[in-house]
Amino acid sequence: MKRVGILTSGGDCPGLNAVIRGAVLSGEQTHGCEFIGFRDGWRGVLEDDTLPLPRSAVRGISRLGGTILGTSRTNPLSETGGHAVVSAAMGRHRLAGLIAIGGEGTLTAARILSDSGINVIGVPKTIDNDLGATDYTFGFDTAVQTATEAIDRLRTTGESHHRCMIAEVMGRNAGWIALHAGMAAGAHAILIPEHRVPLNQIAAWVSSAHDRGRAPLVVVAEAFVPAGQKAPYSPRGLDTFGRPRLGGIAMLLEQQLQEMTGIETRATVLGHIQRGGEPTAFDRVLATRLGMAATRAAAAGGWGTMVSLRGTRISTVDLGVAVGTVKVVPESRYREARELFG
Ligand code: F6P
Repeated sequence: MKRVGILTSGGDCPGLNAVIRGAVLSGEQTHGCEFIGFRDGWRGVLEDDTLPLPRSAVRGISRLGGTILGTSRTNPLSETGGHAVVSAAMGRHRLAGLIAIGGEGTLTAARILSDSGINVIGVPKTIDNDLGATDYTFGFDTAVQTATEAIDRLRTTGESHHRCMIAEVMGRNAGWIALHAGMAAGAHAILIPEHRVPLNQIAAWVSSAHDRGRAPLVVVAEAFVPAGQKAPYSPRGLDTFGRPRLGGIAMLLEQQLQEMTGIETRATVLGHIQRGGEPTAFDRVLATRLGMAATRAAAAGGWGTMVSLRGTRISTVDLGVAVGTVKVVPESRYREARELFG
């Protein structure tokens, strides 16, 4: 019987539990695999913190938010000897390989480990939907749904007070959540990092909506920087992968747009609300299928790959191809959304 380790690493994301369940159920029923989980991502591998994952441990979990395994942003390669510790953990638990469920940082670590001979299969995960080599990541649909519901609520209070409301959404360096939630909620301006516009243009969109008797609604992605302005420094420091922690642009816009338009303005940062809670049905199905595919690949010895969604099909790509490119919003998608606001 093939023994496989599973870990969830990086920022959490609705759908992680559905991946774990899909992997374990299909592994036990179809491929004769047995699983152990590592607690808190690579930390559990480095510190040998494990739990058994029999079928009974994954019963009913696909609708649950978060991850039953816990997660962390521990980078296994940030310490010297990390590779040897991972290898030793696998030997100790007699593992044929690892299924690592994570975003860009996790998958990059998985690729480096794989290049040095460790058997790993990656499962792409992020609410940001910014990973190349897969059309959608699970968690994105849930984040967009949550953001849209929150923005709908901002709209009604904005209308009561005749205010401009600004909602800042996550997405790291890509504007996918802002684009989709902004379109779904009918925003009067959608601001994404891929398409910088100057403050006076944003102010004009806000004033125009106000002049039409609407309560202006602005959706801004956390990494947006107005054209002509310097990128805000990173007041929130760096994460363990050395990337700036983003957030706070909405507060700057609140002050500047109020001054420029004379319209009372309030900003809300949706933050981690977008990562919490139960996954949508779409995300549960996508995550389950990816988990099943990861086990299928493990059973077939397809190490060094990442499972991915292409159209409606689940396939596998080489980990080397899968990491390194951020999938940003193409200009055509921005232009399409742009036709609707202003
Ligand atoms: O990558 C997911 C994400 O939620 C980003 O959208 C956001 O910039 C970041 O993680 C927040 O990270 P943390 O949970 O470490 O604050």
